[in-house]
Amino acid sequence: MTGICTGRVAVVTGAGRGLGRAHALALAAEGAAVVVNDLGVAADGAGASGGPAQQVVEEIRAHGGQAVAHTGDITTDDGARSLVTTALDAFGRLDALVNNAGFLRDRMLVNLAEDDWDAVMRVHLKGHFLPLKHAAAHWRTEAKAGRTPDARVVNTSSGAGLLGSVGQGNYSAAKAGILGLTLVAAAELGRYGVQVNALAPAARTRMTEQTFADTMAAPTDGVFDAMAPENVSPLVVWLASADSAGVTGRVFEAEAGRITVMEGWRPGPTADKGARRTPSEAGETARHLLTKAEPARPVYGA
Ligand SMILES: NC(=O)c1ccc[n+]([C@@H]2O[C@H](COP(=O)([O-])OP(=O)(O)OC[C@H]3O[C@@H](n4cnc5c(N)ncnc54)[C@H](O)[C@@H]3O)[C@@H](O)[C@H]2O)c1
Repeated sequence: MTGICTGRVAVVTGAGRGLGRAHALALAAEGAAVVVNDLGVAADGAGASGGPAQQVVEEIRAHGGQAVAHTGDITTDDGARSLVTTALDAFGRLDALVNNAGFLRDRMLVNLAEDDWDAVMRVHLKGHFLPLKHAAAHWRTEAKAGRTPDARVVNTSSGAGLLGSVGQGNYSAAKAGILGLTLVAAAELGRYGVQVNALAPAARTRMTEQTFADTMAAPTDGVFDAMAPENVSPLVVWLASADSAGVTGRVFEAEAGRITVMEGWRPGPTADKGARRTPSEAGETARHLLTKAEPARPVYGA
């Protein structure tokens, strides 16, 4: 298989199912050798199974591609470190990391158990940080040895992280945290030849097919299957390839046939008194500025 990722080695976390599976297959179809990571957990993060990762490896090989499975937990230091060494041992290099693994524990905030907060923050936010850290340490070593890489990281956020989502306080906070992490990583790692971007996808997977059954439904024959996860993967493949040179610290939404560059927090109306205000004056100023500001975008589910 040859394409825009020929000769490159990519790691995809949570690639045994859903979007990660589609990304792994698409990367392999464009010539990348792929490390397919998946812990094989249930939709709420419970249990573990090597089956999903192995199955995707077999699919890639059946299409003539190169892949190996990694069934470790990317929220542990051992799991994240061995993910990187698996790529180096199997294929001799690492060019792209796609952070994608995750699960949901949705509850309204007043009912959100501490465990459900911790588990979701851990899998998404720590599950992005640790693979990023170990991949970046490898790339820094390469750069210092005079072999500056042309490396890429693609992180997975969500509309919930961009705008908030009712019933997903834990998930929205973790996915917003991934956006901050992406900006810092892009700024810190550019000097080592690493570009870091984030994606907010939407697609039909076990994460969405019940909650958003109508939006996600597969069409009847012959119509564009807008919510197929495979529609998100082409942007991921391009961001993972050398073709995306110069693109870093950016956030994209990708869903169906649409790609959107998200434009984040930036200063709006402002007023400087040059001195401390009383609380009443601060309120008066804030209300005045709000009349001139863009209205806030609605939170999902509000
Ligand atoms: N489906 C959507 O519309 C949508 C929307 C926004 C964001 N996302 C994000 O996209 C990513 C993929 O979600 P999906 O919809 O494909 O879900 P999915 O449940 O189909 O796939 C996620 C995979 O991650 C794996 N995983 C979970 N914890 C892991 C761990 N600790 N180590 C390794 N693997 C682990 C699971 O076993 C599973 O196979 C997630 O980060 C999700 O939050 C999805």
